[in-house]
Order: sequence, then structure tokens, then C-alpha cells
Amino acid sequence: MKLIIFLIFCSLWLSVAADETLDGNQLFMKHCSECHQKDGNSSDENIPKIAQFSAILIYDILDQFKSGDRKAQKIKTKEGQTTDMNMISKQLNSAEIEAIAHYLSGQSSKPPAQDYNQQLAAKGRALHLELCENCHVEKGTSPIEDTPILRGQWKTYLIRQLEAFSKQERDMPKRMKKRIRKLADEDKTALIEFYISPASH
Ligand code: HEC
Ligand code: HEC
Repeated sequence: MKLIIFLIFCSLWLSVAADETLDGNQLFMKHCSECHQKDGNSSDENIPKIAQFSAILIYDILDQFKSGDRKAQKIKTKEGQTTDMNMISKQLNSAEIEAIAHYLSGQSSKPPAQDYNQQLAAKGRALHLELCENCHVEKGTSPIEDTPILRGQWKTYLIRQLEAFSKQERDMPKRMKKRIRKLADEDKTALIEFYISPASH
């Protein structure tokens, strides 16, 4: 009995010791940066920017991909590679995911310049403030509510996600669902124009 307790203690100690040596930066370079760039600010409009997302959110999303709760959209990258976040996340254990999540939360989101329509962005801003601001706070620029940063996200990716939500291919929080349901297609277009407009708007 004593021996068993001693062995359990040793294995616990070893797993804790191993976790401390995990370097989120290194893991990200090894498994992720090829697509999401070194700091999570992907340069491919098909691949989401994930820099500065909260650690809790990144952990949650990767967990959803790993379990299959979120079905990854299979995307062809500029290099012609087909991506599959369900497969990629399955290669990681929870300690590794945690280390990567902490690394990403420490990076800064850098919005790329994207062409946008000023009139539509103004309409989108009003819609955002009315319907989305209480969760995607500070006009969609802040990670503090553990929601995705929407400002400065790639337009192509945002369009794809809103389509996935309406086709119920991707889950969303109940309160978000109620509000997304109310939106006409023109409203969605306006919101996206707002999210890709510079943060000064
Ligand atoms: C081969 C390219 C590729 C690699 C490598 C890759 N990703 Fe992704 N990632 C994508 C694509 C494409 C999507 C969008 C998937 C979708 O729309 O369903 C995505 C989506 C995500 C999302 C969801 C973002 C959001 O806003 O909801 C997170 C988080 C993420 N990846 C993290 C990672 C991490 C962490 C790694 C490394 C362990 C990684 N990715 C490796 C291509 C890649
Ligand atoms: C109750 C809080 C809440 C409200 C209200 C809300 N959202 Fe969200 N939203 C979330 C959360 C949480 C996620 C992440 C879901 C996940 O990946 O599990 C999300 C994800 C998203 C995504 C996907 C982003 C990505 O990186 O993949 C988009 C786009 C989005 N929301 C747009 C909106 C819009 C537009 C509104 C207003 C009409 C809105 N949301 C209202 C909480 C909310």
C-alpha cells in the first residue's frame, strides 16, 4: 500500500515537473506558427488571427476542436496545404494547450489594413454597440470577457464564421444566438465592415 502511494506521489511529482519545462512559445513555433505566424497574427486571410485572445478562450476553443464539438472548416492555405484544426489539436495534451494559451494571451493583436466601406462600417458600429458590445467589449478590441477579438480579424474568416453560425455548423452562446438570429444579411455585412475598419472608428 505504502509503495503504491509512494509511486503515485512520484508520478504526480514527475508530471508537475514536466509541465514546468513546457515552453508555450516553443510549442507554438513547432505546431502552429507555420499557419498563424510567430505571434498569432496570421498573414493569410483564411486563417484567423489569434494573438492576445485570453488564455481561457484559447484553451476552450482548442478543447472544442480536440473533442470534435467544433468541427474545423478545412481550408486551403496559400501554400496549398489543407488544414484541419481537429487533427492538429488532437496531437496536444492539456498541459501543452495551456502553455500555448498563455503564450498567445501575452501577444499583441496587430490589425492588418483591409479595404472597408465607411458608410456600412458606421451602420455596423451602431449594431455592434446595441447587440454585441456587452460580450465583445471595447468595440470588439478587448479579450477580457474571454470572447474572441473581432476588430482587426480577417474579413474572409469572419464571413465564414457568420455563415457557419447561421447554418448551425458551429455552436455559439445562447445569448449571442438570439441576437445573431435577428440580423438581416445586410446587418451582418455592416458588422463585418465595422470589425475590419481601424480601431479609431
Ligand atoms: C495548417 C495550418 C494551421 C496550423 C498548423 C494551425 N492552425 Fe489553427 N487554424 C487554422 C485554420 C484554417 C483555422 C480556421 C478553422 C475554421 O474556420 O474552422 C484555425 C483556427 C484556429 C483557432 C480558432 C480561432 C477563432 O477565432 O475561433 C485557434 C484558437 C487556433 N487555430 C489555434 C491554433 C494552435 C494553438 C495551433 C498549434 C497547436 C494551430 N492553430 C495550428 C490553421 C492552422
Ligand atoms: C453572450 C455573449 C455574446 C454576445 C452577446 C455576442 N457574442 Fe459573439 N461570441 C461570444 C463567445 C463566447 C464567442 C466564442 C464562442 C466559441 O468559440 O466557443 C463568440 C464568437 C463570435 C464570433 C466568432 C469569432 C471567431 O474568432 O471565431 C463572431 C464573428 C461573433 N461572436 C460575432 C458576434 C456578433 C456580431 C454579435 C452581436 C450581434 C455577438 N457576437 C454577440 C459571445 C457573445
